Amino acid sequence: MNHTSHPTAAAPLPPLAAGHPYLTLWRQASALLGTQTDYIANAANLCALIYHNVPDLNWAGFYFRRGQKLIVGPFQGQPACVEIDWGKGVCGAAAAASATLRVDDVHSFDGHIACDAASQSEIVVPLVRDGAVYGVLDIDSPKQARFNPVDQEGFEALAALYTRSCAPMG
Ligand code: SME
Repeated sequence: MNHTSHPTAAAPLPPLAAGHPYLTLWRQASALLGTQTDYIANAANLCALIYHNVPDLNWAGFYFRRGQKLIVGPFQGQPACVEIDWGKGVCGAAAAASATLRVDDVHSFDGHIACDAASQSEIVVPLVRDGAVYGVLDIDSPKQARFNPVDQEGFEALAALYTRSCAPMG
């Protein structure tokens, strides 16, 4: 054994198939987050990467669980509501269900919390570590029905990469 070498974490394998529309973005995110474990730094960079590379978005960011609330984290877009009760809004509903929610028309979602009047559709991906939801990745679009199952696969892969990159929150 070479005692001067240090163990290095293996680069994560892309969970997306070759040719997937989000594969390049996933690889960029993997490089961007790969050397940092701070959950705020990585959230800030990941939402900026998403916001500036995925078309037709007006908000991309994070909410983190604090007890029975979600508190806004790093984001790109208009200022947003700071606190969301667990189970409320699209974010709280996705967090409580531990399931991705795709909403084609936010105005038809009972309890939708409007932060930016421009938002027409939304996708919320829960962030899960050791089986527990610790936050959500929330993406809004000014277009109705902007997000399809391929977008969902892409954002879920990015959310998993984010969780893997970060040390658990203190
Ligand atoms: N629309 C979200 C609130 C957060 S903003 O979209 C940034 C919801 O209903 O939970």
